[in-house]
Amino acid sequence: MSPLKSILVIGATGAQGMAVVRSLSRSRRYAVRAMTRSDSSADAKLISSWPNVSLFIGDCFNEADLRKAFSGVHGAFVNTNGYVTGEKGEIYWGIRMYEIAVRAGVKHWVWGSLDYSTKLGGWHERFKCGHYDGKGKVADWVLAQPRSPMASSVLTSGPYMELLFEFMLPRPPKAPGEPYVFVAPLGSGAVPLIHLEDLGEYGLYLFDNPSTNGLDLKVATQHVHWAELASTFTKVTGKPAEYLDVSLEEYMDKYYPAGKKAVTRKIGTDRKDPTLLTWGQNFSGFWNLFKESGGNKGLVRRDYEMLDRIHPGRVKSVGEWMKKVGYEGQPRPVLKDWVDGGIAKGERVEARL
Ligand SMILES: NC(=O)c1ccc[n+]([C@@H]2O[C@H](COP(=O)([O-])OP(=O)(O)OC[C@H]3O[C@@H](n4cnc5c(N)ncnc54)[C@H](OP(=O)(O)O)[C@@H]3O)[C@@H](O)[C@H]2O)c1
Repeated sequence: MSPLKSILVIGATGAQGMAVVRSLSRSRRYAVRAMTRSDSSADAKLISSWPNVSLFIGDCFNEADLRKAFSGVHGAFVNTNGYVTGEKGEIYWGIRMYEIAVRAGVKHWVWGSLDYSTKLGGWHERFKCGHYDGKGKVADWVLAQPRSPMASSVLTSGPYMELLFEFMLPRPPKAPGEPYVFVAPLGSGAVPLIHLEDLGEYGLYLFDNPSTNGLDLKVATQHVHWAELASTFTKVTGKPAEYLDVSLEEYMDKYYPAGKKAVTRKIGTDRKDPTLLTWGQNFSGFWNLFKESGGNKGLVRRDYEMLDRIHPGRVKSVGEWMKKVGYEGQPRPVLKDWVDGGIAKGERVEARL
């Protein structure tokens, strides 16, 4: 029998899951069971080439597949895809997966989460963001099960720093000498971006430390203000850049990265479900949350001193990240299911590794 503890990763071929799989694999302390619907995608092939990683073919929104997937593993890292389910589906499946994992005898469950936006915003509707609220509600529920036989930790992250290659890509110069333009409806707020490789290391930390049972580890690389993002970009690349602060209406009308048509499309597969938000509604809540998170003093906060203690080698700033990854404002695919106009574009490989 292998001396390695086995960990099921749900969402293993995604930007986030892949980072966690890689950290677990590199540690040589874990055998990873990576759940995916297809072993023929480039991402599945890549992760299965890493040491101690095997694929488990199944659909994470199918109970029979889940029972098999959880069977015999020590731990589970669960990042459901809220863009597939919508908020209601994510709450149902997050809790249902937990129940199935307990019955399967899983010892340590780690829920890949996001900040509960509506709650942080004092329950005001303008902060409603389905893919944040769904995960945040499941996190609250998970942490409210102290008598569970299964240890549970939450890993609350935020927008990936790598989204600067995709969703948060600056607009290129209109003519030589003109600036790159970082557009956001952010005012003087800040986005707590997280470098994916470090996110993977925090996942590893949680499995290495079962005493994190009951902990909600909230991670980020830095609260990034967009004016500072533009000036850092210039400092690192030598290219001129500016921040264009726009209203939410302007952003959705002129600058929404997946195109104007996507703004009114619903997030989730069952388009008739009346609880589903449109991409425009969802990302209005998202930007409103971060608009009020400037200086690490607003709605979304992180304890960076604690993160330094847990992971002293972490990337500490967006400038450091730009140098590390050779960032020049160039596009690169990041999300496996990046949605352009409501249609998944397809897969990307290694872009955020
Ligand atoms: N974008 C961000 O900055 C960010 C930050 C933090 C959290 N999140 C959250 O992360 C989630 C998305 O994960 P990601 O960022 O890693 O996206 P991604 O790169 O687009 O990956 C999507 C993942 O979902 C899996 N998946 C989709 N439908 C599935 C199904 N029916 N059964 C099994 N697996 C399924 C895909 O697996 P296969 O295709 O291989 O089956 C793939 O691993 C969302 O809930 C989002 O809210 C996103």
